[in-house]
This record gives sequence, C-alpha cells and structure tokens, in this order.
Amino acid sequence: MAKRIQFSRTGGPEVLDYVDVEPRVPEPGEVCVRNEAVGLNFIDIYFRTGLYPAPSLPSGLGTEGAGIVDAVGEGVSHLREGDRVAYAQGPLGAYAEYHTLPADKVVALPDDVDVETAAGSMLKGLTVQYLLRQTYPLEGGETILFHAAAGGVGSIACQWARELGVKLIGTVSSKEKADLAKANGAWATIDYTQEDVVERVRELTQGEMCDVVYDSVGKDTWETSLDCLKKRALMVSFGNASGPVEGVNIGILNQKGSLFVTRPSLNGYADTRERLEMMANDLFDMLESGKVKVDIAQRYALSDAGKAQDSLAARKTTGSTILLP
Ligand SMILES: NC(=O)c1ccc[n+]([C@@H]2O[C@H](COP(=O)([O-])OP(=O)(O)OC[C@H]3O[C@@H](n4cnc5c(N)ncnc54)[C@H](OP(=O)(O)O)[C@@H]3O)[C@@H](O)[C@H]2O)c1
Repeated sequence: MAKRIQFSRTGGPEVLDYVDVEPRVPEPGEVCVRNEAVGLNFIDIYFRTGLYPAPSLPSGLGTEGAGIVDAVGEGVSHLREGDRVAYAQGPLGAYAEYHTLPADKVVALPDDVDVETAAGSMLKGLTVQYLLRQTYPLEGGETILFHAAAGGVGSIACQWARELGVKLIGTVSSKEKADLAKANGAWATIDYTQEDVVERVRELTQGEMCDVVYDSVGKDTWETSLDCLKKRALMVSFGNASGPVEGVNIGILNQKGSLFVTRPSLNGYADTRERLEMMANDLFDMLESGKVKVDIAQRYALSDAGKAQDSLAARKTTGSTILLP
C-alpha cells in the first residue's frame, strides 16, 4: 500500500483525504513513478473546488512531480526502471507516493537538475517557456506586464524575461513580493494594493504601454490588463486566480484598440512528445545554465496538501511550493 491524496466531492481543503491505495501496475505505454517531490499549482485548487471538473470521483489530484521510475509498461523505450524523471501533465494523481501515467508525458532529468527543482518547475517552467517563447515569441526590447510576478510561474517568468532582454513589469501585492520580483529580474514592479496599475504602466512606459500582458488573475484584472496594452497588442489570459473571465463582449477588443486575445494552456502547447521534449530541453537549458533558479520557498508534507493549498490561495506563498511524500 502507498499514500495518496484524493477527493470524493468538490469543496474546500477539507475534502482532501490522505488515504492508502495500491499503486497501479503500468499498462502498455505507461510508467509508474515513485515521487520524491510533488509540485503544488493553482490548477490543483481549480480541480478541488470544481471550477475545472475532475473526469471522475473519487479522484487523485495534481499533475506535477519528480522522482524515480519504479516500473515500466510494455512498449516504453525511452525510460527504464531507476531513471530520474519529471512530469507536468497527464491524469490527476501526482499528490501521491506513486503515480502511474502515460510514459510520453514523462521526461528524463539531466544530472544537474535535482528532483526538488524539477517538481517546482516542470509545470510552471514549461508554462513560461510557451508563454514567452511561443504564444508571443519575445525577441528582446519588448515591454510586458506580468501579473503575480512573485508567484511560482511569475518568479520564473521574471528571470526568463531578463535573459531575453525584455522589460517585465510585474504586479504584486506587497513590498516583500516587489523586492523578490526585482531580485528575479523584473524591470519594474507595481504594488496593485497601493498604486493604479494602468497609470503606473503609462508612466513607466512613457505612454507607450505594453506589447503583451500575461494575466493569470482573471476576473479581477481583465479590463485593467486590456487598458495596459498598446494598440493591436496581445492579451494572454492564462489563469483564474480571482475567478474566471466570463460574459465578455468581444467588442471590447475593438474599443480598447483592435487588440488580440488568447487563452492558452500547457496541454495545448506540449501536445505531442516532440513538442514536450523541445519545451523541456529549453527549460532544462535555462536551469542548467543557472539563468533560471527555482526558489522552493515552501515545503509541506504530502499529508498537509490542504494547508499548502490554503496558503497558495491566500496569496501567502512566493516562488514554488512542493509537497514531500
Ligand atoms: N494556462 C496555463 O497553462 C497555466 C499553467 C500554469 C499556471 N497557470 C496559472 O498561473 C497562475 C499562477 O500559478 P501558480 O501556481 O504559479 O500560483 P502563484 O502565482 O504562486 O500564486 C497565485 C498568485 O496570484 C496572485 N493573486 C492575485 N489575485 C489573487 C486572488 N484573488 N486569489 C489568489 N491569488 C491571487 C497572488 O499574488 P499577489 O499577492 O502578488 O497578487 C498569488 O500569490 C494561476 O492562475 C494558474 O492557474 C496557468
């Protein structure tokens, strides 16, 4: 038997149970990973609350982890028992000592990337990879607005943007978070609890505004974000930390300056083995070269997953959070 977190109904952290299960023997094309560290992500909260429906209940939770391949199903050629690996996609169930998932979602870790770094950056770092390198292929010289700049995704984005020569303006809710985002390479920060975001962006850009806004906050920031863009610029809405953006009249894109908008997801970008490998190699290059450092600012026991989620939802965390089985 092994431990995992599962939920049988949606709701608050109290719906998370820490239970014994028999690790599933991998079927053809699958591997079973013995997790050494599990990544905590906002999307886990969306599944727990029901904002994103789990395919069935009871359900495991979580999609990001790193550890050692424990068993390999038939037909898997790129992984062997004992390999150090990480993953960020696939069926819910990463909050567990053992997780069985399709092998094509699992990548081998380079020697220089430790499992905690991998668990704290696979989902968040691959997200930054597609946001900055694919959704809008930044070349350097652009000015972008990135919300939640001291968070898990945001901390990696600040460093990657600096490396690309992009001026990242990060929004944050406190001075401590502003300092952290700056230390990570944000060109400027805006504390939205004290300052008017649109006016500050106008000042900082001398009226030019931004080439791209990356907005993972959703409902609360949608219109502010549109107001921070240049004409014909791109709004990337990639999360719902404050709730989903709903009931949008598409005419607003005309009123705010012939804007473009996209609502991307990691699964929409890392949708083939080739694309996942390309993106993971790009991320690993950034990690191995030290250009991106992953700040594991919080560690929790797997059994305390509910507490960890509470902190994330209450904006109390910075950088990445991992759960330790
Ligand atoms: N589409 C994708 O592919 C994809 C992939 C990964 C993550 N995401 C999204 O990216 C976002 C960041 O994920 P993460 O796991 O790295 O989390 P995180 O950024 O570490 O934590 C969320 C942060 O959002 C900010 N925030 C603003 N309004 C909030 C509210 N009403 N409730 C809670 N937080 C609020 C807080 O920072 P301040 O205190 O500074 O405001 C908070 O720390 C999430 O929205 C997530 O869903 C999307």
